[in-house]
Amino acid sequence: MIRLAIISASTSPIRTGAPIAAWVSQSARRSRAFEVDDIDLQQVHLPLFDEPALPRYRRYVHAHTIQWSERVDAADAFVMVVPEYNRGYPALLKNALDYLAQEWAFKPVGIVSYGSGMSGGIRGAEALSGVLTALQMHPVREMVVVPHVEKHTSGETFSPTPGMTEGAELMFESLVRADAAMNLLRTSSADVGWQQGTDETLAQQGDRRWTPRPPRDEREAWRRSAAGTTSTL
Ligand SMILES: Cc1cc2nc3c(=O)[nH]c(=O)nc-3n(C[C@H](O)[C@H](O)[C@H](O)COP(=O)(O)O)c2cc1C
Repeated sequence: MIRLAIISASTSPIRTGAPIAAWVSQSARRSRAFEVDDIDLQQVHLPLFDEPALPRYRRYVHAHTIQWSERVDAADAFVMVVPEYNRGYPALLKNALDYLAQEWAFKPVGIVSYGSGMSGGIRGAEALSGVLTALQMHPVREMVVVPHVEKHTSGETFSPTPGMTEGAELMFESLVRADAAMNLLRTSSADVGWQQGTDETLAQQGDRRWTPRPPRDEREAWRRSAAGTTSTL
């Protein structure tokens, strides 16, 4: 099973996006390919970025960062459900992304965008894609776009068009395909050195966050053993 985190970036108290995120979550669970973690960024309660060290070094000092790091690290893939704000995406999401680095890297991500206008939040999604790429994520091409969002939501209910439903199915399929490939790219800090934040001094001091993590599953164990074999040739 692929561990899929569905991140809702709905920021306003009206929370138009809540039923859209719920629909994405139900669709993902129905596909049976995913084990789902629903993340509501309003509930994560991150202050504005306040870590002294660069996130890529993973030298976190705040409990809220360590908790966020563990939750994101546990996911293999993501779907981000994102409203458009002024042709961009909410600051809440940018802040949550900026907190971490290694935890996002080499993981596929799908975007579900929405907005009041006819563009369906696609300009916000495009702005987001560049940031996701900088974090070494892989935004899949297939996505769900919800224009005139108020026409598709009523209270707890989201009424997708057939095109939106198909878009979600294609997005999930792409996430499954990309996960298979990207799992091979995910490497421990010992494998790739400074870029992943290795700090041998901290490791020697026994700082648990700086020692190579154990393989997360049999795919990673296989990849590591295959990499070891290759390096001795
Ligand atoms: C500050 C702000 C800027 C917005 N800018 C856009 C925009 O550029 N394009 C658009 O289609 N909708 C825009 N909207 C409308 C939101 O996308 C729409 O209200 C959406 O439902 C908000 O989702 P939320 O309630 O889940 O946060 C904006 C809303 C706000 C609050």
